[in-house]
Amino acid sequence: MPLVSLREVLERAEEGGYAVGAFNCNNMEIVQAIAEAAEMERAPVVIQASQGALKYAGLNYIVSLVRAAAESIRVPVVLHLDHGTDREQVLKALRAGFTSVMIDGSKYPLEENIAVTRQVVEVARPMGVSVEGELGRIMGTEDNIQVDGQEAFFTDPEEAQRFVAETGVDALAVAVGTAHGVYKGEPRLDFDRLKRIRELTRIPLVLHGSSGVPDEAIRRAVSLGVRKVNIDTDIRLAFLQKVREELDRRPEEIDPRRILGPAREAAREAIRYKMRVFGCAGRA
Ligand code: G3H
Ligand code: ZN
Repeated sequence: MPLVSLREVLERAEEGGYAVGAFNCNNMEIVQAIAEAAEMERAPVVIQASQGALKYAGLNYIVSLVRAAAESIRVPVVLHLDHGTDREQVLKALRAGFTSVMIDGSKYPLEENIAVTRQVVEVARPMGVSVEGELGRIMGTEDNIQVDGQEAFFTDPEEAQRFVAETGVDALAVAVGTAHGVYKGEPRLDFDRLKRIRELTRIPLVLHGSSGVPDEAIRRAVSLGVRKVNIDTDIRLAFLQKVREELDRRPEEIDPRRILGPAREAAREAIRYKMRVFGCAGRA
């Protein structure tokens, strides 16, 4: 299928009361793993490119890889810019064919975040491209973006209401206790806050840093209005664990495909599992 917008996929998720999985792609094998998982689970899916992925693979490679993946399967695929840094980067992504963009203005004070996000909505909406904004700061490290514990703060529900009304975003990333990367202890989510944000904003909410969050907590977050769940670290871990195993098992191997092929399968299975937890399996 040709790529679709995030809005389209989220509208169905709202009707069905489930969340769509948004998986980060770092290389060709992971793009293929995501697409295969979506096809096998009959699940709509978001394939997203982080700042690190853009740097590593390049914008044009990402777009071509994801288009090829989408065209080879029969379920809806969204190509999404993850943690877009500024208007210029968003414009590049729009011109290149992304069907959804995130503008992460969470590092700015509220007024500035609203202004920069609204500007992005103004350029993206006429092109049929969806926009995700972020309010509150999500802890941890993703590629080169680092937010430490003290600096981080949770999303304020009243501010979220104002942010959504004044920017017109299609989805809102919230800080409710998750963090990017590997958790040291078990993450504890602030479900009351999540509930309040949803009551006041009434739009699809996005949970970042969802790797390592227990399945039950994810299900509860989905029941409270999370409609997009972002996963990167857990796919990387599944992929790399298999790479290590294969290298240990066959130290003389000279064909990278014999190492990366099984790693791709391991990533695919990890993604399929997540899709079932999010409730998007069988929805496409
Ligand atoms: O934007 C991407 C996600 O928030 C990924 O977070 O690596 O902790 O799963 P994660
Ligand atoms: Zn994130």
